[in-house]
Amino acid sequence: MNTVKIVGIGPGHKDYILPIAYKAVEQADLLIGAQRHLEIFTDYRKETYCYSNHLEDLVHTLETSMATKKIVVLVSGDPGFYSLIDFIKDRMGKDAIEVVPGISSFQYLFSQLKQSYKAYLLLSLHGRNLDIGKHLRGSKGLFLLTDRKHSPSQIAKELMTLGFEDYRMVVGENLSYNNQRIEVGRVQTFVDAVFSNLCVVVIDNELE
Ligand SMILES: C[S@@+](CC[C@H](N)C(=O)[O-])C[C@H]1O[C@@H](n2cnc3c(N)ncnc32)[C@H](O)[C@@H]1O
Repeated sequence: MNTVKIVGIGPGHKDYILPIAYKAVEQADLLIGAQRHLEIFTDYRKETYCYSNHLEDLVHTLETSMATKKIVVLVSGDPGFYSLIDFIKDRMGKDAIEVVPGISSFQYLFSQLKQSYKAYLLLSLHGRNLDIGKHLRGSKGLFLLTDRKHSPSQIAKELMTLGFEDYRMVVGENLSYNNQRIEVGRVQTFVDAVFSNLCVVVIDNELE
């Protein structure tokens, strides 16, 4: 029986994809992923399926194709950090999956900041809510995945109402791509800032 390989492809640029991930893609019959993930591998001329956010469709495709096809599910960053391991494992069973790690957006951003992340809480606002104030008071700082609703500007507004206006905020947009932007400043400077939907945020009181 084939297994489904859940393969992390890092922040997006080809240079940050591990050789073992390329090997998995090379051996695959069917690549599943979001459009921006599939585009990286067009030269491999594989059958593809773009699942966007329809996870039930993804499971249906896995169930119907697994017996006859080697399937790779491409995910951004690392599959173990707010990604698809738990969902696919719960539905398909542990023995049905293999996992190929990738470089997470938090690893990439902290490397660009030339900074260690050991004292930071690594959290997600992607499709979920958080008590940011509670987490910030209990740690050196936060790293946050974001989404359309929880944009850097929304996060800055919330931090202002919670009294963190003088904290440092870092926004990493389109990390590793040619249009990458990393902005650093006080929380209050981000209240009206506009970014794309592909962003992560760091908050701490480490302003130099
Ligand atoms: C479903 S989560 C997946 C996180 C991923 N597993 C990781 O390890 O980074 C998707 C979120 O990751 C962040 N992200 C992923 N790639 C990014 C990039 N190249 N630049 C900025 N943020 C990115 C964004 O916050 C995005 O909304």
